[in-house]
Amino acid sequence: MTEETLDNLSSEDRVFAPSPEFAALANAQPSLYGEAEAGGVAFWEEQARELIWERKWDTALEWNPPFAKWFIGGKINASVNALDRHVAEGHGGRIAFHFEGEPGDTRTISYAQLLTDVCKAANALTELGIVAGDRVAIYMPLIPEAAVAMLACARIGAIHSVVFGGFSADALLSRIQDADAKLVITADGGFRKGGAFALKPAVDEALLGKTNVEKVLVVKRTAQETAWNSDRDIWWHEIVDRQHSTHTPEFFDSEHPLFILYTSGTTAKPKGIFHTTGGYLTQGAYTHKDVFDIKPKTDVYWCTADVGWITGHSYMVYGPLINGATQVMYEGTPDTPHKGRIFELVEKYGVTILYTAPTLIRTWMKWGEEFPNQFNLSSLRLLGSVGEPINPEAWIWYRHVIGGGRCPIVDTWWQTETGAIMISPLPGVTATKPGSAMRPLPGISAKVVDDNGVPVGNGHGGYLILDKPWPSMLRGVWGEEERFKETYWSRFEGIYFAGDGAKLDDDGAIWLLGRVDDVMNVSGHRISTTEVESALVSHETVAEAAVVGAADPMTGQGIVAFVILRGGIEHLEGDALVKQLRDHVAKEIGAIAKPRQIMVVNELPKTRSGKIMRRLLKDVAENRAVGDATTLADPNVMKLISEGLKSATSED
Ligand code: WTA
Repeated sequence: MTEETLDNLSSEDRVFAPSPEFAALANAQPSLYGEAEAGGVAFWEEQARELIWERKWDTALEWNPPFAKWFIGGKINASVNALDRHVAEGHGGRIAFHFEGEPGDTRTISYAQLLTDVCKAANALTELGIVAGDRVAIYMPLIPEAAVAMLACARIGAIHSVVFGGFSADALLSRIQDADAKLVITADGGFRKGGAFALKPAVDEALLGKTNVEKVLVVKRTAQETAWNSDRDIWWHEIVDRQHSTHTPEFFDSEHPLFILYTSGTTAKPKGIFHTTGGYLTQGAYTHKDVFDIKPKTDVYWCTADVGWITGHSYMVYGPLINGATQVMYEGTPDTPHKGRIFELVEKYGVTILYTAPTLIRTWMKWGEEFPNQFNLSSLRLLGSVGEPINPEAWIWYRHVIGGGRCPIVDTWWQTETGAIMISPLPGVTATKPGSAMRPLPGISAKVVDDNGVPVGNGHGGYLILDKPWPSMLRGVWGEEERFKETYWSRFEGIYFAGDGAKLDDDGAIWLLGRVDDVMNVSGHRISTTEVESALVSHETVAEAAVVGAADPMTGQGIVAFVILRGGIEHLEGDALVKQLRDHVAKEIGAIAKPRQIMVVNELPKTRSGKIMRRLLKDVAENRAVGDATTLADPNVMKLISEGLKSATSED
């Protein structure tokens, strides 16, 4: 038996330092850690001074756990920081977005144009009676108007609540109700997987429920037949196009709410995470500049996230625009019209910095190298990852196949709640280990602690916590103060518990081990799903793996693994393959972690943002009816897996 909070099974000795050329020119230099350490809150004030404030703050931080206020007394406007400042500094002609629609239509939008679009939209919102503090729901495809709508809200102090366009009418309704939104901004539809999908009907359906929505503003994207309620619905082009092209911004308190973004727990009612203005923008801009080493004159930056997620908020809208970056925005899916679409766009726009998620990297591994190899990816100089632990082998694949062995990889750990990146390498400083997010960014305090809240030493695992306030931290759960305290601040007194397990390796580098709810207990060993999954993915035939602990009369829990095989690789079949994989796990991390059962599948159940839903796999592994699958991206996946498992055999 072991006393460990979380076992530390795997070890990794490959290390990749940035090239001397990259290091020499990097925005963030090694001295940044010392400056942040010495400066404390003053370090954050220095970052805040990079923004345009109409009035400087009086007090940098007021911290009454769990409530923080940053840059108190300061007055700021988010859209002025994202747009007006660049135009005023003479960069109005710089491209803000290279937009590529899925059907191949393109738009090139300069900062000056984006400012004009946002001013007109802000004027239109004002004409519709929207005032500072009102909530506006945004339910759109990934098209430039989505960013324009967010920035127009921010410009007039309205609080946006973006709801991912893939969510159902029910999900939209509950979010509209919870935030008590007054206006919905949507589109007739968008393009995905080679066809037009409709959005407006879901809004119509949602609004059959009880809400205080007065108007629906509709962007014409697909020009499909759209049912119309002329008392309520307004075409975007009809009201926005006729507005004045300038708008005098008002400045708001640093702590004025900027947005609400709902994050779904597994089954419970989604939490309305809300962020305020000054602190959020400060950390968003700082991390975007230093983690992505952005050089606005020369870089072409592409974050593949949707605006429906926090990554789209912080690293497609606010962070990059504040830093004056040129970006790619792509509406569609990575496999339309072919599996090389992302790589084709990297070549077309000369993308230098690519920020994506492990789920897509593993999907590329599954599809095979032939797709990236058809395109010239030599413009890339930096790669990023976010959303889940990245398995060491997926990291190596990303580095070699996509990054040509030359690009540093920043594995960035953060959450909707943290608002901005918290743990990540600095690309010109850190010698990175594949699969590790390495260490907290300068200014951030993150620790790994045991059950009693005592920091574990190197070589041990435990709970990831944040023990100092940070500027972009959530300010609460919208309308639910108790839930805010209970969810994040009750496990350890006055300390933020993120819900993730992590370990420190022998050098003190941080390895994220997945949600602590997913930790398995096998014969008294607390084993993280991530470590077993990474051991499986390190086998040459495996592209992706999901592991769960299923009740086991002998060992407490037994490990059940679901694997997707890589494309274009010869492999054994059936029992022989399963035996090989089990032996491989035993060799990589020890016999204790050998899966009891392994099943080869074609797909895994994932949320719409690409995270594996282990809870559903656990239902299957324990022969239960599959639970609430409403947040699943593809509802059919579970049916196929359940049917498959019934016919699979247990190994021991
Ligand atoms: C997970 C996404 C390991 C983690 C920005 C976290 C990660 C949750 C990483 C937040 C990473 C995110 N390594 N795990 N680099 N990044 N996660 O709110 O479990 O969609 O708590 O924010 O994703 O997901 P969210």
